[in-house]
Amino acid sequence: MPSSRPEPALLRVLAGESLDPPPVWLMRQAGRYLPEYRALRAKSGSFLEFCYNPGAAAEATLQPITRFGLDAAILFSDILVVADGLGAKVEFREGEGPVLEPLTPESLGRLKIARMQKYLEPVYEAVQRVRAALDPARALIGFAGAPWTVACYLAEGMGSRDFAAAKAWMWGKPESFEALIELLTLATIEHLSRQLEAGADCVQLFDSWAGVLPSEEFRGFVVAPTREIVRGVKQRHPNARIIGFPRGAGAMLEAYAHETGVDAVGLDYAVPLEKGRALQKRLAVQGNLDPVLLQVGGAAMQGRIRAIRAAFSGKPHIFNLGHGVLPATPPEHVAALVAAVRADP
Ligand code: CP3
Repeated sequence: MPSSRPEPALLRVLAGESLDPPPVWLMRQAGRYLPEYRALRAKSGSFLEFCYNPGAAAEATLQPITRFGLDAAILFSDILVVADGLGAKVEFREGEGPVLEPLTPESLGRLKIARMQKYLEPVYEAVQRVRAALDPARALIGFAGAPWTVACYLAEGMGSRDFAAAKAWMWGKPESFEALIELLTLATIEHLSRQLEAGADCVQLFDSWAGVLPSEEFRGFVVAPTREIVRGVKQRHPNARIIGFPRGAGAMLEAYAHETGVDAVGLDYAVPLEKGRALQKRLAVQGNLDPVLLQVGGAAMQGRIRAIRAAFSGKPHIFNLGHGVLPATPPEHVAALVAAVRADP
C-alpha cells in the first residue's frame, strides 16, 4: 500500500479505532434492488457467468459506491463460487436460488483445491479491477462462505429449513464430514488469501447457517474452522483484517467473538444492543439493523439507526444491517440510511 494512501475508515475501525460517524456499508449492497444492477445482470448471461466476468463483476461491485458513497465496496461474487471451483455442480435458477448436485461421502473425493485455484482466476481479476477503480479512501472487502454454511449447500443441494442432510452426514459419517470441513477450511484460506493478494483490504466470512447447530457442534464446525481460517490467512497476510458473521449464533456469539481471532463480529438483528456493547470491550462490532426496517424506511428506520449509533458510539463500530439488503428495498431508503448514519446525532 503506498504510504500516501489515506487509511479507509473501515480499516481504522478494524484496527481498534472508534470513529464518529462510523463507517457504513451494507451486506448485499449490490443486487436486484438496484435498477442499474438489473440492467447489467440482464446482459450478463447466467449468474455464475456474471460472477466470472471480471468487467461485469467489477462494475456491479462499484454500482452502490457510485450511487450512495458507502465507505466500503464488497466484491460482487457469491459464497458458492468456492463450491463451484472445487468441482461441485452449482447452478443458480431464476427465482429459485442455488441448486447443486448434492455431495455425499462417496463423491467428496471429486472436490479439488487445485481446480479451484485456476477456476477462480476471474474472481481475483475482478478484485484487481475494482481496487484500481475504487477511491483509495474506501475499503474493498473480499469474502467467502464459512465451511459449515458451504457444507450445508453442498450436502442439501439447496437451501433448507432443517439441514437434515448436512446433519445426517455430520452425525452419521463423522470422519468423512470432518474431512469435508477440513477441505473447505483450506479452500477458504486459499480463496481469501488470493483476494487479499489481488487488492482486497480486508475479508468477511459469512456463516449464514451458524445458528442451526447445537452448541457442541457450533464449537466444532463453526468456531474451530473459523479459528483455523483466521490463523491460516494471517500466517500468509499478517496485517489482514477479518470480519466474522455467525448469523443466528445466539448464546454462542461470545464464544465465536472471543475464541476465533476475528477482528470484528457481525451482529444479526436478534442480538440485543447491550450484548453488542459488551463485545466491543474486545473487538469491533458490525450490524445489526433489520433489513426489513430498511425496506420499510421512514421514522421507524430513523429511530433504530439513532439507537444503534448511540449504543455503539465511543467504541469500534461499523454500521451495517443484521443480514443482506432485500430485493424489494427502495434505493432511496439506502440513501436515507447513509445520510442518517452520517448526520450529527
Ligand atoms: O454483498 C454483496 O453485495 C456482494 C455479493 C454477494 C452475493 N451473495 C451476490 C448474490 C454476497 C456477499 C453473497 C453472499 C451469499 N450468497 C450468502 C451469505 C449471505 C447471506 O445472504 O446469508 C449466501 C447464503 C449466498 C448463497 C446465495 N446466493 C443464495 C441463497 C442466493 C439466492 C437468493 C437470492 O438472494 O437471490 C444467491 C444468489 C445471489 N447472490 C444474488 C446476488 C446478487 C441474486 C442472484 C441474481 O441476481 O439473479
